[in-house]
Amino acid sequence: MASQEEIFKKLVSHCKEYGFVFPSSDIYDGLGAVYDYGQNGVELKNNIKKYWWDSMTLLNENVVGIDSAVFMHPTVWKASGHVDAFNDPLIDNKDSKKRYRADVLIEEQIAKYEDKINRETEKAAKRFGDAFDEQKFRETNPRVQETEAKKAALHARFAKALNDENLEELRQIIIDEEIVCPVSGTRNWTEIRRFNLMFSTEMGSTADGATKIYLRPETAQGIFVNFLNVQKSGRMKIPFGIAQIGKAFRNEIVARQFIFRMREFEQMEMQFFVRPGEEAAWFEKWKQTRMRWHKALGLGDKKYRFHDHDKLAHYANAATDIEFEMPFGFKEVEGIHSRTDFDLSSHEKFSGKKIQFFDPELNRSYVPYVIETSIGVDRMFLSVLTGAYSEEKLEDGETRTVLKIPPALAPVKLAVLPLVKKDGLPEKAREIMDNLKFEYHCQYDEKDSIGKRYRRQDAIGTPYCVTVDHDGLVDNQVTIRYRDTMQQERVPIVRLEQVIAEKLSMKNLLKTI
Ligand code: GAP
Repeated sequence: MASQEEIFKKLVSHCKEYGFVFPSSDIYDGLGAVYDYGQNGVELKNNIKKYWWDSMTLLNENVVGIDSAVFMHPTVWKASGHVDAFNDPLIDNKDSKKRYRADVLIEEQIAKYEDKINRETEKAAKRFGDAFDEQKFRETNPRVQETEAKKAALHARFAKALNDENLEELRQIIIDEEIVCPVSGTRNWTEIRRFNLMFSTEMGSTADGATKIYLRPETAQGIFVNFLNVQKSGRMKIPFGIAQIGKAFRNEIVARQFIFRMREFEQMEMQFFVRPGEEAAWFEKWKQTRMRWHKALGLGDKKYRFHDHDKLAHYANAATDIEFEMPFGFKEVEGIHSRTDFDLSSHEKFSGKKIQFFDPELNRSYVPYVIETSIGVDRMFLSVLTGAYSEEKLEDGETRTVLKIPPALAPVKLAVLPLVKKDGLPEKAREIMDNLKFEYHCQYDEKDSIGKRYRRQDAIGTPYCVTVDHDGLVDNQVTIRYRDTMQQERVPIVRLEQVIAEKLSMKNLLKTI
């Protein structure tokens, strides 16, 4: 069986081969950690964005959207804390000259302890069969207990070092845990330094005295600076939320794992403004709502988990991640943060404008508290693809590669395939497409054998293939073939839309949240 690493490599090349994701400026050998979305990728990405946008703005009458500019007044980033505090602790290996994030090296070490425990448990489960009591095993097995204790100790030490911003202690942890550079295999580490992640550029010509501005590292600040505009123009009452989808830029130093960590990426963020003191309850509510949104896609409930933050960002009083099980372990896809009144208060201070809400029920004004849900479109895209990618052995010994993308998100919904390129079958196929194309992204394909055409559609995750044959010209029926089961069924053309509509409907997906 292929290892997770091999599967991930295959997925990356699959993405390129089938028009999902290309390296940026590919003909110039690419640009580090920057990617372009191809003809199928953009459809999937747009569908993910629609699923998120509709879930926010249609399902919550008190959530509205905006689209703010990438460029913002430079003081925004002073007020938000990004100029002073948006940095990563970096460490270099002197032999390989490779640079790493110190916190990521330690997190990976913690994950190794977890893997060891899981492997031990799986082995025991196989040995004991049905009689296996996993909880008891984890609580009593001496080897598991020993690894668990090491993990807990490392975790506590790491959290303390992060919270104290103690770079020397972080380095000492790397030394004590005997963490080696994956490239050189040595422990020859430099000191740890801090590195700001914001890209900057200049606005205006140098002769006029150009202003240094930043490419936004998060979309959230565009929401905060528009709080008053939206609240007043929309006559919004607390609690209410503002949602936005847009590009963000970070000069990531350790950019690995394909589109997981990019320098230009897209975020879907929603800031929910609440009364001070009510933030804990809203934090809990949004945690659950967001988890339901993920699980509704049906990629497998076990693939998700919450991960509470050890180190809170400079603005937060509670934070958790929703992690998805990628081929390289459980990884953050979304962050949910209780940001207190940090941002609005800070913008009040720096702008000199009063940013408050008069609450008629309390008969007083206050700076609202904020619960933020922040998800990366690209990471969501990666989680959908890794969850959907599957290689299946068929009865004839062949292997089919199929993307079991949730149908409502699939780039192409329906492929229409005339059995042969003559006898009026292409015309009939086109007629079917012409009826459905207003609602569904359809693809027409008449080249190669039907089997090959099915494989091509499996590879891009098309949920339904419809074959038009000679009988169909007489009885007005077609054969519909289902992607996941490969089962085929004869259906009257007039019923086709009804058969495919249920699973393709975004509305139905939204109803399951
Ligand atoms: N406004 C809060 C914020 O930006 P974050 O945890 O830094 O919080 C939120 O980012 C989400 O944005 C992450 O959960 C991740 O999905 C996505 N993200 C962050 N950095 C990224 C990167 N370099 N490449 C791709 N996605 C990224």
